[in-house]
Amino acid sequence: MSIEFLLNGERIEVEAPPMSRLLDVLRRELGLTGTKEGCGEGECGACTVLLEDVPVLSCLLPLVQCEGRRVDTIEGLARSEAGPLIERLVSLGGVQCGACTPGIVVATCALLRQTENPTRAQVAQALAGNLCRCTGYEGIHRAIQALAEP
Ligand code: FES
Ligand code: FES
Repeated sequence: MSIEFLLNGERIEVEAPPMSRLLDVLRRELGLTGTKEGCGEGECGACTVLLEDVPVLSCLLPLVQCEGRRVDTIEGLARSEAGPLIERLVSLGGVQCGACTPGIVVATCALLRQTENPTRAQVAQALAGNLCRCTGYEGIHRAIQALAEP
């Protein structure tokens, strides 16, 4: 089946079974390996992408649900609005092994699209589904709060 959608601002058409996981299509068919597979069961948030600005777990999302819709991955976001956030995550201790980082960046971009200067509680809530085993989240919070500083 042919599924058409907007991926990182470009219209694309993918030939794949409609119930394929979006995560597999991104990584295997389209070579977009920035989106990570952690648990593969909807528990860790490593595979987070934006569907119409809403963070979704691509390991649970059938490709058919993307038909005619807008999907943004870490690759597209890193080229645009996520640049300053990624820089601060790196410089302020928000990245260690990096396995969670794409999902954290994508989920944070969704938050920042709605709330320019989120509180720590709002950040914690937005990242509640994104597990990080390394940083203890302090560096991640520091990086996000630092975006508001001149
Ligand atoms: S890989 Fe999708 S939530 Fe863990
Ligand atoms: S930096 Fe390793 S899981 Fe978050």
